[in-house]
Amino acid sequence: MSILRSSTDPRWVEVALSDLDATLGDHAHCEKKAAATAVKLVADHADRPDLVRKLAKLAQEETHHFLAVLNELAVRGRTLPPDTGDPYVQALLRLAGGGRARLGELLLVCALVEARSCERLVLLGEAIADPRLSEFYRRLAQSEAGHERLFLDLARVHADGLDVDRRLSEMADEEAAIVAALPLLPRIH
Ligand SMILES: [Fe+2]
Ligand SMILES: [Fe+2]
Repeated sequence: MSILRSSTDPRWVEVALSDLDATLGDHAHCEKKAAATAVKLVADHADRPDLVRKLAKLAQEETHHFLAVLNELAVRGRTLPPDTGDPYVQALLRLAGGGRARLGELLLVCALVEARSCERLVLLGEAIADPRLSEFYRRLAQSEAGHERLFLDLARVHADGLDVDRRLSEMADEEAAIVAALPLLPRIH
């Protein structure tokens, strides 16, 4: 069962499909940032071998996704658009405090971002008419499905002094409020 407290507004899929080039461009940046975030966590916590190994593997997988989305853009005669930032992830990152609990809180933010992204990739896979692109999204969603669990498991091991269940519950409520306040755009979030 997902940690999400809300389902995506069904109108989002129509908006995302109305400009698939823009959605794919944003998606490429999401995969790039997922890889970069994993590498940054490895760099900042090199003294935690379990975290290093799992997130290095995740970075490899997200880089593979990034390349796969770049290929889909190329098929459509497109290249990577400028990265216009991600207000959703920026709002979630503001929830993570400092101090000893910061790593745990960042891992919970990552779990929520993975859960929401996976939910939306499933919706794209179901809604896209082109069988090849639909299959592409179905396969990607399967690959993303384990990432929410990976970050939750890491949070339970590495969240020094943090009550993971209580904090996850608070952050999941906040995530639902953040999603509800964002405009519906041809982006992953
Ligand atoms: Fe990914
Ligand atoms: Fe992921």
